[in-house]
Amino acid sequence: MPVSIKSSREIELMREAGRLLEITHKEMEKALRPGMSTWEINKIGEDVIRSFGCIPSFLNYNGYPASICVSVNDEVVHGIPSREHIVKEGDIVSLDAGLIYQGYHADAARSHIVGGTGSEEARKLIEVTRQSFFEGLKYAKAGNHLHEISAAIGAYAESFGYGVVRDLVGHGIGTHLHEDPQIPNYAQRRRGLRLAAGMTLAIEPMINAGTWKVCWLDDDWTVVTEDGSLSAHYENTVLITDGEPEILTLTGAGA
Ligand code: MF3
Ligand code: CO
Repeated sequence: MPVSIKSSREIELMREAGRLLEITHKEMEKALRPGMSTWEINKIGEDVIRSFGCIPSFLNYNGYPASICVSVNDEVVHGIPSREHIVKEGDIVSLDAGLIYQGYHADAARSHIVGGTGSEEARKLIEVTRQSFFEGLKYAKAGNHLHEISAAIGAYAESFGYGVVRDLVGHGIGTHLHEDPQIPNYAQRRRGLRLAAGMTLAIEPMINAGTWKVCWLDDDWTVVTEDGSLSAHYENTVLITDGEPEILTLTGAGA
């Protein structure tokens, strides 16, 4: 499929989708505390999304059974919320959420430490993962090539000795959750698509404290690090312009 260029009307709708998703993330972050189940976190996120009249886009996507992906510690992404999984002080909880507003998708992920402080190792991993997104974003501009973003993300994370997940990638987004192009988080051997104003991209580094290798649990969804090391995830929906990119899911809404 060709990479879609959004009209100004579509961009307005995606801005609103992004703003509502940012508020959803803020509400989940405020509610997160030790002793909660990952199912409760999912419920809070889903209720906020529905309160906006939006649709949680992950629910039933390829059979995924919840609205929010809740991935704890060595779980990289796509953790399935469960009433039995209680989070504790110091855990890394990665929350990935998506919604549809008037036919347009927004997708974003954040990693948090339950109870606030956590280990030095966990805090650093989360911060480097977040910063790797911004390192990639420096290249997110019309006229540049997609894999400049990929290479910058990967080089930054690897400079800390971290493993950059290769089995999963970011993606274009719009009237579908996953559109072309795929956006790897590590250097490629070709320069990739030429970026143009009006493209909307979900850029989402998934970074492991140890090896980049991952495996899938028997539920066929939950991705975990092969070596049991911690993992973090950071994702925003971004609009490419001729100048600075616009981060649609990071505007200060819901703070
Ligand atoms: N945010 C995830 C992504 O970008 C979507 C989760 S997949 C789902 O691919 F099945 F859980 F929806
Ligand atoms: Co995504």
